[in-house]
Amino acid sequence: MSVQIKRRADYKPPAFLITTVDLHVTLHPTDTRVISTLKVTRQGSHNQPLVLDGDNLPVHKLLIDNAPLAAKSDDNDGYILTDSSLSIPVDKNEFTLYIETSIAPDNNKALEGLYLSGGAYCTQCEAEGFRRITFFLDRPDVLSVYTVTVVGDEKYPMLLSNGNPVDKGQLSDGKHFVKWHDPHPKPCYLFALVAGDFDLLTDSYTTMSGKEVALELYVDKGKKHQGTFALESLKRAMKWDEDVFGLEYDLDIYMIVAVDFFNMGAMENKGLNVFNSKFVLADQDTATDDDFFNVEAVIAHEYFHNWTGNRVTCRDWFQLSLKEGLTVFRDQQFSADMTSELSNRIKHVRVMREHQFSEDASAMSHPIRPDEVIEMNNFYTVTVYDKGAEVIRMFHTLLGVDGFRQGMDEYFRRHDGQAVTCDDFVSAMQSATSLDLSQFSLWYSQSGTPVISVEQQELENGKVQFTLSQRTPKTSDQHDKQPLYMPINIEIIGQGGELYSDNEGVINDGMVILDKESMSFTVDASGNVLTPAVLGNFSAPAKVDNPLSTESLLTIFKHGKDAFNRWDAMQSIYDRCIRELEQSPEASIDENIWVGIRSAISREIDNVELLGECLVIPSFETLCQLRTSVDVAELSKARTEFCHQFAQQLEAALLDVFNSIESKPYSYEQSAVNQRRCKNVVLAHLALLPQYEHLVTEQFEASDNMTDTLGALRSAQFCRKEVFDSLMAKFEQRYNKDPLVLDKWFALHATQPTKDIFATITMLCEHPQFTMSNPNRVRSVIGSFAFYNSEMFHALDGSGYKFVADYLLKLDKLNPQVAARIVTPLTQWQGFASQHQRLMKEQLGRLLNHKGLSKDVFEKVSKSLA
Ligand code: ARG
Ligand code: ZN
Repeated sequence: MSVQIKRRADYKPPAFLITTVDLHVTLHPTDTRVISTLKVTRQGSHNQPLVLDGDNLPVHKLLIDNAPLAAKSDDNDGYILTDSSLSIPVDKNEFTLYIETSIAPDNNKALEGLYLSGGAYCTQCEAEGFRRITFFLDRPDVLSVYTVTVVGDEKYPMLLSNGNPVDKGQLSDGKHFVKWHDPHPKPCYLFALVAGDFDLLTDSYTTMSGKEVALELYVDKGKKHQGTFALESLKRAMKWDEDVFGLEYDLDIYMIVAVDFFNMGAMENKGLNVFNSKFVLADQDTATDDDFFNVEAVIAHEYFHNWTGNRVTCRDWFQLSLKEGLTVFRDQQFSADMTSELSNRIKHVRVMREHQFSEDASAMSHPIRPDEVIEMNNFYTVTVYDKGAEVIRMFHTLLGVDGFRQGMDEYFRRHDGQAVTCDDFVSAMQSATSLDLSQFSLWYSQSGTPVISVEQQELENGKVQFTLSQRTPKTSDQHDKQPLYMPINIEIIGQGGELYSDNEGVINDGMVILDKESMSFTVDASGNVLTPAVLGNFSAPAKVDNPLSTESLLTIFKHGKDAFNRWDAMQSIYDRCIRELEQSPEASIDENIWVGIRSAISREIDNVELLGECLVIPSFETLCQLRTSVDVAELSKARTEFCHQFAQQLEAALLDVFNSIESKPYSYEQSAVNQRRCKNVVLAHLALLPQYEHLVTEQFEASDNMTDTLGALRSAQFCRKEVFDSLMAKFEQRYNKDPLVLDKWFALHATQPTKDIFATITMLCEHPQFTMSNPNRVRSVIGSFAFYNSEMFHALDGSGYKFVADYLLKLDKLNPQVAARIVTPLTQWQGFASQHQRLMKEQLGRLLNHKGLSKDVFEKVSKSLA
């Protein structure tokens, strides 16, 4: 297969600019006509032809300043059309180009460009989907002003595009049109068009300078009541961005459309966001607390892009983290302000540890600003997004709230209306601090997860020396690593909870800067045993190797000031216990640990937020990242055994917690969320003990909300099979008509570690609500299996790997983007024992040899076999 690698270092400014775009789109399922009129200007003095991107598009008509141009032939110098480009010979410096082309949205199952979702037309252009609609300079540094006329028949009463509606009317053939104008120059990836028949929720928001903005939310017919939370979230996000960053909305109208067929979460198209309905629709009966949380977070994320992404955009796609890392950081700060700082931090750190660390350990390892890309869609990664956000968080830590705000103000002052680079962002931040950020900017170019090691040595006269050192293991893309600049939160705690400071004054406000391979400081211990709690609040995206005794970990839990550290200490204790069981499966855990946990529970019984998080046993995926050569069956067995001992040993304490939380009528409000969370975590432990099976069924029957219903269902996985099966059947009957809810049921089935899992999955794929063309369905069945059914996916007869590979071969023909996502677990063989590796590579080999593999899947598979 011949593929083209694109390199960041090869960036060249565009040879032409397109200042205005006039699009005229006449919708038809198999023959949509797209007429585009572009004002083009040559940049600099050169005589190159104008080369536009166009993905398998025909040219029906082409005019330059009204003069027709034909295709090149032997005796005529015309345009040259290939399946990816259109080269137009021109010598004018300014001209108007008219091109007529056509597309078939109904055949577009890749969901990139213009496609049909259910009965509605919609678009997805980021990163390079606009070239599937019309010929263009499809790159983010070409900014144009758009005027768009959408023509459709009466079946589609709502015809939407970016900006403000400026005209509408009836046409003679029974069709109608709406014309839109967006005054803000934008790159084509922010173009959007939607046509359909929706239920509409409207509201308005008055900005800080008194401008009235119309808010419109479009949802499937009959779903109006599920849209109110999203609309309220939007207003909270608009207010927050004004309060925290002084950023105001800049159009008269803000529209959000929820669609069922969508490759990812949502898209920040200027003035017309398109959302996966999963991140819009929410009510008590169908959405869990997590769903509500995600709706608010994604609504905010897309809204925040209006400044960090749209007003200031990326020069090229290698700079993606410029907008994504920054916008994720902004949405995380917003969520923390709306809900709770602690549970947010834990949630995001879990994502880093489960998914980003494993990406960095795989052949897809890349810096937050990648250097090489085959298929851009493969780089919308946890590294670019979440590690990118961690890097922005470090700026925030180092510059402080005011310094960070000053840097942001300067960034907008310099770059509003431009397409810029990560270096431009760093430079704006640099203007707001006296710290030298040059070493810090290595975070943009160096991949891999640094490991911070902590050592403690007793000196004479009661002093203790602490040494912190860093090392970044080599990654598949980079062998040489340099020391990074890391802010490290640290607490030195005595046995009685006293806090110690160091003699040299390197700890400032609980933070040290590690910018070399290693650094040391001393503390006067005067005979006390000292416990260093390092990397509090996950102050840098790193792993920590800090060999503490169980007593020390319990000391951190008991006395740590930082709640995050306390949670983290508990996680380390569990990890340690599981390791013991891996070594000797018959071992029983030291009674002191149970004593410690019991007393922790009774001390924190009123602090349900912390308690709920602390009672979660680290996931299988997180444990994998703390081990090498994982034998899946052994690790799962040890983890399961630990869970059983946990339930048995802590039975009384767990029951106390369960009974102390009284069920109240549902409201989505933080204290209630914390209570439900804690209660459901405890229920899942108790469900391992047969005598509490009734608690599960009782909760299921009594529940007035999806959080508790699903909590009961998840716990039922640990009860007798009959119990699980009967609750699942009831659930399916109740929600048969609601695919978003059914996705939860699909996922629960697909993650059951049962022997007949393939029969189950086949049954799910034949369910009337299942279709391979809907990414949400595919993710909930096949994605859940590959990512989270570790035992069966990694079964040593190779059946799990083979099943996923077989499925991907079919899916890849339809939707390469989604196929390339789901192939991820198969490519991450590095952490597993050799018997797993061999079988995983066998399936990767099958994929690689397949004729007609998409470049999306090809890039990931070929890298992982290289
Ligand atoms: N910009 C969108 C967001 O972060 C995501 C676009 C993802 N595009 C893709 N091709 N995967 O909100
Ligand atoms: Zn984004």
